[in-house]
Amino acid sequence: MRKLNRLTGIAAASVAALALAACGGGGGNGGTTAPAGGGETTPAAGGETTPEAGGNEGGSSEGKDMRLALNQTETHPSYVVLNQMGEDLSEATDGRWSVDVFPNSTLGDQGEYIQMVSSGVVDLAIVSAPQLENINGDFVIFSLPTVFTDIDAQMSVLTDMDIVGDIYSSLEESNSVTVLGPLTQGERNMYTKDRVETPADLAGMKIRVQESPVFLAMIEALGGSPTPMAYGEVYTGLQSGVIDGAENNMISYESQKHYEVAPYYALTRHLVGADFLIVNTDTLNSMSAEDRAAFDETWTTAWTEHTELWKTNTETAISEAEAGGATFTEVDAAAFQEALTPLLDEFLTTPEQQALLESIKVAQ
Ligand code: GCU
Repeated sequence: MRKLNRLTGIAAASVAALALAACGGGGGNGGTTAPAGGGETTPAAGGETTPEAGGNEGGSSEGKDMRLALNQTETHPSYVVLNQMGEDLSEATDGRWSVDVFPNSTLGDQGEYIQMVSSGVVDLAIVSAPQLENINGDFVIFSLPTVFTDIDAQMSVLTDMDIVGDIYSSLEESNSVTVLGPLTQGERNMYTKDRVETPADLAGMKIRVQESPVFLAMIEALGGSPTPMAYGEVYTGLQSGVIDGAENNMISYESQKHYEVAPYYALTRHLVGADFLIVNTDTLNSMSAEDRAAFDETWTTAWTEHTELWKTNTETAISEAEAGGATFTEVDAAAFQEALTPLLDEFLTTPEQQALLESIKVAQ
């Protein structure tokens, strides 16, 4: 748990609570805590019903309008496909099951989502790999540079249950959280208020990172100063000068309007990132076999479409950010990779982690 003490208060608190849940074999439904707000409480996407947390305790297969927490806008591919998944699921189960997507972090920041799903306050959430890394260090492999060659290779590995099945079910007993599968985050690159061409240009720059040990280590390895911060705070962080830059894919850069306050987007291509759909294990287990099959099918359609949408939307995001004043620049990408490659040995320390890396490499 290297450098975990440097995480933000919220993330550290979530990690502590989850560790407690793990020790007590807890998790499960029945959480009564209200979802943390961020000031806004109005459900965005068709949120006319407000289901009670833990509504399916006892293995009922009657169904539920499941709440899904998301930190992206309604234009983001993840919102688009998950919203459609909700409709498809409702149709396929004669209205027994559906998904109500709450975008724009209206249910809180991503650092809180695992705990919310664990307690049953929400049923589903999209979390970035580093959030899962905070609970089970083996998830770090999905955030390391050079692990995935491109989006298609990444998706074929991350949907191959022979490779990832064990790690996806690893939080079920301890936290009552099942990882269902991935949505790509595409290629992550660096963007800043001042132009960056080599790692040396990052010296002294405060770069926002996701709240996890590997992202802190990454920016340190590049010579920058890592600043953990929730996704939804990055725009104002850049605007006020609390941070000098961040790293993310082009779709997030554009949809969050970060180009308005950090116009230099350097194509560092430091990694292909992954998000995951997580679900409360008790909710999942309460589905009848027929409804579970419908759920799995609509999810498969969702991630398949997401991967295609990702490619077209990336092109659109580039043009829209450019029209808004962004400059996309090629950099000394090899120098970035060289600085980051030692992280593989630093973070993959057990024979099991090395074996997982090996099977991922072989599968691509
Ligand atoms: C991407 C990713 C999110 C993540 C965000 C971040 O947008 O899809 O899940 O939260 O990066 O950098 O925090």
